[in-house]
Amino acid sequence: MAILEVKNLSIEFGGLKAVEDFNLSLEKGELIAIIGPNGAGKTTIFNMLTGIYPPSNGTIHLDGENLLGRKPFQFAQAGIARTFQNIRLFSNASVIDNVKMANTADSNENFFESILRTPGMVEKERQLDEHALELLSLFGLEGQADTIAKNLPYGAQRRLEIVRALMLNPKVLLLDEPVAGMITTELDEMAQLVKELREKHGQTIILIEHHMNFVMPIVDRIIVLNFGKTISEGTPAEIQKDPRVIEAYLGGGFHGNA
Ligand SMILES: Nc1ncnc2c1ncn2[C@@H]1O[C@H](COP(=O)(O)OP(=O)(O)OP(=O)(O)O)[C@@H](O)[C@H]1O
Ligand SMILES: [Mg+2]
Repeated sequence: MAILEVKNLSIEFGGLKAVEDFNLSLEKGELIAIIGPNGAGKTTIFNMLTGIYPPSNGTIHLDGENLLGRKPFQFAQAGIARTFQNIRLFSNASVIDNVKMANTADSNENFFESILRTPGMVEKERQLDEHALELLSLFGLEGQADTIAKNLPYGAQRRLEIVRALMLNPKVLLLDEPVAGMITTELDEMAQLVKELREKHGQTIILIEHHMNFVMPIVDRIIVLNFGKTISEGTPAEIQKDPRVIEAYLGGGFHGNA
């Protein structure tokens, strides 16, 4: 059974069909990309898959569970976590605090415990610290745990965003243009990290990306969107040869560094 099953997902904004009949069956451990020109509807798909926009039509099942009608925090609790196209961090908080705050849904339930600092709470906090540091070291950020987030280099901030999303132990991780604005060395580093996340940790991932040279070598398959519709789907090699894809990119606003 697919871990994420999406059928006929559609949404309109004031008559504009931003996404129309989007279908996806994602297997556990898969790494796929959604690509397409600016305004194609890529981020809108993520917004529907995280409960931010209720779709006007279609269904979303995660591990067989119907998520339609749930609130964004419930999508996160069910196991879909994301990063944003524009970095969203607590810029004046430390790196480690940014990571630990990603997990607030759980600690809120234990508000009284946290005031009283029961032994259970202290142990929980220790485990949270440990898990946060583990994830930070996976992304080469363990030495910067106490650095204020805004003082990190840009590439490191993007990595920190992913660590925050991973704190939710997601079944599916959604990355919206993780290498946008990065320089080549940071880009190669990120490609390696995303690849490892899948290979070593079995993380299921959907990636939105403009950079073909980032996406092509690491993903299993690619879905190409244009004007809200899926125009092609296949392995990177198949996509590259598809005349519809070439036309969409030559005729549309595709650029390599959005
Ligand atoms: N909240 C909204 N209200 C109105 N229109 C919207 C809204 N969100 C997205 N759109 C429109 O939906 C279309 C798809 O936008 P979306 O952000 O999903 O594109 P994208 O593929 O992520 O593009 P980019 O590569 O530029 O990030 C665009 O025409 C956009 O203007
Ligand atoms: Mg977008």
